Amino acid sequence: MGDFSGKTAFITGAAHGQGRATALLLAKEGADIVAFDVAKKIEYPAYEFGTGEELKSLKAEIEALGRRALIAAGDVRSDAAISRAVDEAIAAFGKIDILFNNAGICAYAAVDTMTDDEWDAMIDINLKGPFNVTRRVVPHMMKAKSGVIINNSSTMGLRGGKRLSHYTASKWGLTGLTKAWAIEFAPYNIRVVSIHPTGVNTPMNDGLAALEGSTPLEIAERSAGNLLPVPWLEVEDVANLVAYVASDKARYATGSQFVLDAGLLTV
Ligand SMILES: NC(=O)c1ccc[n+]([C@@H]2O[C@H](COP(=O)([O-])OP(=O)(O)OC[C@H]3O[C@@H](n4cnc5c(N)ncnc54)[C@H](O)[C@@H]3O)[C@@H](O)[C@H]2O)c1
Repeated sequence: MGDFSGKTAFITGAAHGQGRATALLLAKEGADIVAFDVAKKIEYPAYEFGTGEELKSLKAEIEALGRRALIAAGDVRSDAAISRAVDEAIAAFGKIDILFNNAGICAYAAVDTMTDDEWDAMIDINLKGPFNVTRRVVPHMMKAKSGVIINNSSTMGLRGGKRLSHYTASKWGLTGLTKAWAIEFAPYNIRVVSIHPTGVNTPMNDGLAALEGSTPLEIAERSAGNLLPVPWLEVEDVANLVAYVASDKARYATGSQFVLDAGLLTV
């Protein structure tokens, strides 16, 4: 049993990609998992989202590891869905120790042709979504006087991206929330950190490639600048970082930005 024996982790965007890999690693290391995902196609961007089948297979994989899993289909824009999932989690597991605000979307759009709907969806999901979830989870952490919140920002939360102004703004906003929440929650012994991966090999990258009429590798290379000779990270690389920052090994890290960028931000 690893670092997370007896802990509960609430993970958004858990059906596939980085959220799923993190759910499986934390479960392998002893955590019970609440896997929250919209689990259906939404209006924007026009690529593949997680599915109910993926949530069900994730639950089966976690249970095969000997841990408990609660799956919840819902949108991070819906307070009702979040509140229901948090209530179910507390009823099932009694507490939430770790929150991974991971659900997010990405799409390219130039400023002069970007629609209100594109701007609003990006900000509502990537920035307001983590706020929506955190405000329902954190009262339970405050009561327990313990907790860790990890926000999945991006290197775009520390730099700019071409045709990504809405995404960049949402991810810088999430870096800002990390700072503000670290201050607000520290008296309750709750840590808040953000992680900043470079491109990751996930369905999001595949979806962006399809929308751009490109290949995933071309998309990775276009936004690249990785110093190390790799086009992207694998989901397990991100999961390993989350497992570290969520653990007591990082017990005095709060308000911090953890960069995993193959050297991208160095130049
Ligand atoms: N892939 C990358 O290159 C990369 C790099 C850095 C940071 N990120 C960030 O990492 C996070 C995870 O990305 P990923 O690459 O695993 O993406 P992904 O698209 O492969 O997976 C995202 C998951 O989130 C879910 N989701 C999307 N919108 C949701 C909503 N409104 N409510 C609930 N669930 C929703 C999807 O159904 C999906 O299962 C995102 O916040 C993303 O911005 C991605």
